Amino acid sequence: METGRVLISEEQIAERLREMGEEITRDYEGRSLLMVGILRGAFMVMADLARRVRLPVEFDFMAVASYGAATKTSGVVRILKDLDEEIAGRHVLLVEDIVDSGLTLDYLLKTLRLRRPASMELASLLVKKDMQRVPVEVRYTGFTIGPEFVVGYGLDFDQVYRNLPYIGVLDQHSL
Ligand code: IMP
Ligand code: MG
Repeated sequence: METGRVLISEEQIAERLREMGEEITRDYEGRSLLMVGILRGAFMVMADLARRVRLPVEFDFMAVASYGAATKTSGVVRILKDLDEEIAGRHVLLVEDIVDSGLTLDYLLKTLRLRRPASMELASLLVKKDMQRVPVEVRYTGFTIGPEFVVGYGLDFDQVYRNLPYIGVLDQHSL
């Protein structure tokens, strides 16, 4: 990234995901898990976290749109792709890249709870401190960060930077 700085390194992410995977493995012992990745941002966390979970795991994905090219939340959530699987009676772990205002997750959790999963928890690589406009309970948090806009490791700015192997902060003038 030419105009930014590394906030969380590749090594730090790998280490934290390993710890989260172990915690999830312990918590769900004897059960099978349906990991639901929220596209597009969560695809990398999903791939790396899942490889640290030693349980029978199935995968599904949902795609939602919450932001356009802007870096502020719109509060409007649109489901672009719904789950392929039925979740009634399943242990569901939603996997997110970041919880900012919490509006996306709040909407998703409410929608998915109506389908009566046996349990539903949330894992998010990043949580922005004190930015939640609605309370969202994140069972597994990777890192708590400040209010800055971050990119990389799945997270985009206007669809770019998702392939960075670390979490970076863009310089103001590049936004
Ligand atoms: P929320 O609804 O405000 O919690 O935002 C949820 C979505 O906004 C995330 O899944 C991201 O796609 C996007 N988002 C929020 N903060 C950032 C950021 O700092 N960088 C990139 N995307 C972000
Ligand atoms: Mg995004």
